[in-house]
Amino acid sequence: MSALDGFGSVGSGSAPPARRSVRFRGQGLVLAIETSCDDTCASVVDGDGVIRSNVISSQHVHDRFGGVVPEIAARHHLQLMNVVVSEALAEARTSLDEIELVAVTQGPGLIGALLVGLCAAKAIAAGRRVPLAPVDHLQGHVSANFLSESFEPPFLCLIASGGHTLLAEVEEHDRFNVVGRCIDDAAGEAFDKGARMLGLGYPGGPALERLAAEGDPCAFEFPGANAKGRGRRGGRGRAYAQGLDFSFAGVKTALLYRLQQMSEADAAAQAANLAASYQHAIVESLADRAERALERLKVDRLALGGGVAANGALRRRMEQIGARLHVPARELCTDNAAMIGSAARFQRALPYPRYLALDAYATGQRAL
Ligand SMILES: Nc1ncnc2c1ncn2[C@@H]1O[C@H](COP(=O)(O)OP(=O)(O)OP(=O)(O)O)[C@@H](O)[C@H]1O
Ligand SMILES: [Mg+2]
Repeated sequence: MSALDGFGSVGSGSAPPARRSVRFRGQGLVLAIETSCDDTCASVVDGDGVIRSNVISSQHVHDRFGGVVPEIAARHHLQLMNVVVSEALAEARTSLDEIELVAVTQGPGLIGALLVGLCAAKAIAAGRRVPLAPVDHLQGHVSANFLSESFEPPFLCLIASGGHTLLAEVEEHDRFNVVGRCIDDAAGEAFDKGARMLGLGYPGGPALERLAAEGDPCAFEFPGANAKGRGRRGGRGRAYAQGLDFSFAGVKTALLYRLQQMSEADAAAQAANLAASYQHAIVESLADRAERALERLKVDRLALGGGVAANGALRRRMEQIGARLHVPARELCTDNAAMIGSAARFQRALPYPRYLALDAYATGQRAL
């Protein structure tokens, strides 16, 4: 039995999976739309993966709630959609006449938010009778690696985002096998909740990273880290999840308990050290699992994807692994539509009018 037995694969949208990667062969352009969470995104990419425009409008209205409010996100997508699509076309110096394919995130994500993007994409595609490619958001995060200077499969991809943390074995452009997944909270969620406990704003990842830059990563020991020189394999610092799976619930609870034991003044004085140690624990967990997976799968090429891949400490740590590493530009790690357009180039699109009845899906098509 191989290490991969028992794991499924994520295919491309609802189209029947092609046996081999099918590259978008059009001479024209792909217009892509992404609205799975709180960023309203539209992009124009060409068949070679060159980004002609990549417009991202972040909804800062959620900051005061400490997290994304789904209903508010959907309403804002509705308000921003036309402007963002027009801007993407204008920046690409093109018009809908030159668009050969419309791509859109079908799921997973916030259902109301997804439906706004999906309806807009259907309307644009149907109006021009062009095909539509429904794209899986996680396939999009992987496909950020195929843009511009493409990193070609096979490789192992660590996807670490707000809702997911997984290790994907990428053998083809249009699918991947999941070889490790998160058993509780995602890495991005751990960054966001840790930042909240430390009194930082939302989204927490970038804020926590900034504070951590002033602190000592070995000041505190949190589970999941190779802290204070203890062995990563078998020492007290070892993460709770075994094998290739991830767990971040423990590190969150550890930070909470640590803060409860400290006076307010002490917590404020130690904030940078707490942030640095907490970030270190998360980064070490991610690196540890990635290293193990590379070893087990006998792969020496590693790619990153998802918002947490924007983290400088993680990027630096991954460079030390020794595998050939590819990390997309920061703006291609967090949510964007260019990665959706990139994925669409390799999957089968639905011709008009087959996509008109297409629905969005909120959770992954299988448990991740
Ligand atoms: N510099 C950073 N350091 C750490 N975390 C970061 C950084 N920048 C962004 N993040 C985290 O990345 C997450 C957002 O990433 P992304 O936009 O890919 O997630 P999402 O789309 O909400 O979730 P998913 O992709 O799983 O549906 C947030 O949790 C955010 O805190
Ligand atoms: Mg995402």
